[in-house]
Amino acid sequence: MDIFQVIGNRRSIRKYKDIPVERQKIEQILDAARLAPSWKNQQCWRFLVLSDEGKRRAMLDAFPDDNPGKKALAQAPVVIVVCADQEESGIENGIEYYVADTAIAFQHLCLAAHALGLGSCWMGWYEEGAIRTALGIPDRFRVVGVTPLGYPDQEPKARPRKELSEIAFFEDWGKPYDNC
Ligand SMILES: Cc1cc2nc3c(=O)[nH]c(=O)nc-3n(C[C@H](O)[C@H](O)[C@H](O)COP(=O)(O)O)c2cc1C
Repeated sequence: MDIFQVIGNRRSIRKYKDIPVERQKIEQILDAARLAPSWKNQQCWRFLVLSDEGKRRAMLDAFPDDNPGKKALAQAPVVIVVCADQEESGIENGIEYYVADTAIAFQHLCLAAHALGLGSCWMGWYEEGAIRTALGIPDRFRVVGVTPLGYPDQEPKARPRKELSEIAFFEDWGKPYDNC
């Protein structure tokens, strides 16, 4: 798969096979995350990899029952909690860049997982304090997202995206890029 195939075919995966994930693949995925760009190259991200069933279950209560990905967290053999040390990033124009830093790394992780035949699903709908407590994550770290990781047991259709003309402009603000 080239990079455009990886980007184009990735989906949020919410059903997983009962097959373990090879440690070497997990390391490869974390390494891809580690290579992301970041504010002053401060690399504020931290990744907590969970395979122990008890630990994975301990944080489930932090997720509302109607979160569509909740079941996947119990089903997938691995869960990765993506955190950020806010002190290792900056604020400019009121934008807290720890979110951007960590989001880029998280997406590297998701794309690398897909390239290796694994599924992931960025999940951000949870009670952050409950995750910290359940997993012993120190207060100064923000929990930016959580993903299950494993071999997909579904092939979801692509979800719709806005047309390029709605989101990309050429020369003048509001002049659709594809209309020039
Ligand atoms: C910041 C963020 C938070 C998300 N939170 C959740 C979540 O809590 N639960 C869930 O099932 N999916 C969650 N998603 C996945 C989105 O629903 C999904 O990316 C979107 O519907 C597009 O589908 P696709 O990823 O298959 O292209 C989240 C995605 C992002 C980027």
